[in-house]
Amino acid sequence: MTLLADQWAGNSKHFWMRGEPPREPVVLDEASGIWHVYGYPEALEVLGDTGVYSSETARRFAPSGGEEFAEGNLFQLDPPDHRELRRLTAQAFTPRVVADLEPRVAEITHELIDRLQGRDGFDLVAELAYPLPIVVISELLGVPAGDYPLFKGWVDAMMAANGQYDPSDDPEKQAEDARPQLEASDRITDYLLEHTRERRKRGREDLLTRFVQAEVDGQRLTDHQIAKIGNLLLVAGHTTTAMLLANAVLCLDACPDQQALVRADRSLVPTMFEEVHRFMTPVSAVYRATGTDTELAGRHIPAERMVMVWCAAANRDARQFTDPHTFDVTRDPNPHLGFGRGIHFCIGAPLARLEGRVALDILLDRYPVLGLDPHRPPTFIPSHDLIGVQDLHVVAEPA
Ligand code: HEM
Repeated sequence: MTLLADQWAGNSKHFWMRGEPPREPVVLDEASGIWHVYGYPEALEVLGDTGVYSSETARRFAPSGGEEFAEGNLFQLDPPDHRELRRLTAQAFTPRVVADLEPRVAEITHELIDRLQGRDGFDLVAELAYPLPIVVISELLGVPAGDYPLFKGWVDAMMAANGQYDPSDDPEKQAEDARPQLEASDRITDYLLEHTRERRKRGREDLLTRFVQAEVDGQRLTDHQIAKIGNLLLVAGHTTTAMLLANAVLCLDACPDQQALVRADRSLVPTMFEEVHRFMTPVSAVYRATGTDTELAGRHIPAERMVMVWCAAANRDARQFTDPHTFDVTRDPNPHLGFGRGIHFCIGAPLARLEGRVALDILLDRYPVLGLDPHRPPTFIPSHDLIGVQDLHVVAEPA
């Protein structure tokens, strides 16, 4: 695991990646006023109490555009508004619906790998981890997967801006850094708005049409609301899954004994992915705001304060996980917080799990030898709250 620890040495915020425990489970950053939650039981307490810890952080803290950002954004809603929208969106990701996607996910994975024929090395992020989930979510929504370069441009712009944005900066810098992210997000919404209007005229067998026909609290969704939901799914549905798949290959490369175990017994692939979530948590923090004064781990937190729940740090809490800094593909049970917890638990988890399992299984089948290119080390995403790589050059020998 030296590679991971060395690579991470530069990011002082992600201390747990170097095996360091937090000073305390709950820490106030005096300079920014943000409360950082690192402990596992404390994280559970925050994520489980939506009465005290609200998800409406943009409305409360975003320097500009908070209302706009929050519209149709499940991440930003509290009950009761959250409930109906969640119910509606969740219909698209039931275990049944997702299981039916398995043959198509396998087909896309094979097509992407077929394109690599004759090459003994490639960038796994660019060639597989990134395009696979974007094609899947595009097909689900009903937008042409051929528009992939368009989304990629917008999402890359969002990710680059996310790398700059840090909630502990002063409000002016935050507003400046958030602007390109909001602009790129608006482009995606405009694009989806056009498709939604078309579905209003002529329905098809896709998710956008389903949203056009759906009712929430007895009312139809507006075109703009639908485009915002689509935007959320498109963005949340692929960057994270791409990170998870690449993180899995990174972890297996760093731990050859664990890779050998998984290669010998493929039934370990699902528990391996849960361990990747725990060990290299792609969404390393989620945000909440205190609606009232409260107590957490003996600390008094006043109302209207930003709380950052570091799921990635909680996933290394020795009070919850034995040998937390050991990557163990057989770890079971593994109640990691990689998909969050409580009412905001990731709606796309069944899809992400399916995509990861199918893609990795095929990758291992088609490449009996697969490892990092020692001459081209990966570049980590320069973000304060994401853990993943933006490229992953591998050397690979096909079967
Ligand atoms: C929520 C992570 C894949 C859509 C979340 C949350 C996390 C997360 C941590 C909780 C946020 C919070 O509590 O504030 C991930 C990871 C993924 C992944 C690590 C891949 C490995 C997906 C996919 C989709 C998706 C494939 C959709 C296609 C969503 C949505 C929510 C959510 C809509 C908001 C749910 C709510 O607030 O009720 N995700 N996600 N995610 N995720 Fe994912």
